[in-house]
Amino acid sequence: MIKEKWDVNDVPDQRSKTVIVTGGNSGLGFEVSKSLASRGAEVILASRNLDKGREAIEKIGGDAIAPLVLMQLDLADLSSVRLFCEGFLKKHKSLHMLFNNAGVMQVPQLRTVDGFELQLGINHLGHFALTGLLLKRILSTKGSRIITVSSGAHRTGNIDFNDIMKEKTYGRLAAYSQSKLANLLFAYELQRRLDLIGSSTISVAAHPGYAATNLQMTGPGMGGGWGYTTLYKVTNKLLAQSALMGALPILYAGTAEDVRGGDYYGPGSFGGMRGNPKLVQSNKKSHDEDLGKQLWELSVELTKVGYEDLLSSKSH
Ligand SMILES: NC(=O)c1ccc[n+]([C@@H]2O[C@H](COP(=O)([O-])OP(=O)(O)OC[C@H]3O[C@@H](n4cnc5c(N)ncnc54)[C@H](OP(=O)(O)O)[C@@H]3O)[C@@H](O)[C@H]2O)c1
Repeated sequence: MIKEKWDVNDVPDQRSKTVIVTGGNSGLGFEVSKSLASRGAEVILASRNLDKGREAIEKIGGDAIAPLVLMQLDLADLSSVRLFCEGFLKKHKSLHMLFNNAGVMQVPQLRTVDGFELQLGINHLGHFALTGLLLKRILSTKGSRIITVSSGAHRTGNIDFNDIMKEKTYGRLAAYSQSKLANLLFAYELQRRLDLIGSSTISVAAHPGYAATNLQMTGPGMGGGWGYTTLYKVTNKLLAQSALMGALPILYAGTAEDVRGGDYYGPGSFGGMRGNPKLVQSNKKSHDEDLGKQLWELSVELTKVGYEDLLSSKSH
């Protein structure tokens, strides 16, 4: 049972834990990194831009009571994902929490280095590859968690297998919603596969409601999107909660004791836009097992990262 107003002071002691936070330099990822570092976790702050990562580490500075490690990770480039994982696996013997948090929203029609539509590529496929390449370390760490950050936008999402890269019709928001539905399909399918092998690792999901971060400026501001950013400047002031409040469901999913595999956490007030964390429900489509399996198989084909050996019941 979640305490009614669970907040950052309720994050339990994290000493001896190793954690990766993608997009740890900004917004929600920054708050998650700061909170866990101040509770004693060794936080690997994964940032695509090392200068921004260094700035974030400086800001967290004195709050951290364990090493804060900066590593470069560009989720829009699978070779960078591979390099990151190789670097991590060489140095670290355990991984207690992987926060699949980084993301972009409402970018114009662009591609990743590997040719994927940018939002699906960064938000889902990059994290799919990252998780798969780190999985052996996650599985060998007892009670570890994979926390994937989705959004209320999953509700308007469709996975269009005939045009998954949205080459025929591109809409900035439709592509974002697709990627955020993909985040949930991935999180739940991963949990089903973990259940099959009886693993102590769990896969959970969270969303921040509406939090004022760089998300509303970065993507929407690209490619002449000043109309969107003007609107978001106003709504960020009027409707959004702080990045710290938005980070709470993610922190809850990563650290609270009563979290179970397949749970989804989000803010508990204002129709899920604001407030302290609560166990919430995602839509029916996100739980569609056939869809989850189909997306999984396609993600393996596209990223060439197969989980089969690790998630096969024969290997455990
Ligand atoms: N804020 C909200 O209201 C809201 C609502 C629903 C869901 N979310 C989700 O929350 C997550 C975090 O977003 P945020 O609100 O904290 O936004 P943010 O402040 O813009 O942070 C996003 C982070 O992702 C990083 N990133 C972007 N592209 C990347 C790439 N190719 N490789 C590695 N990192 C990359 C960004 O790096 P740079 O700093 O270099 O750009 C930044 O660190 C996202 O998944 C988003 O979809 C946010």
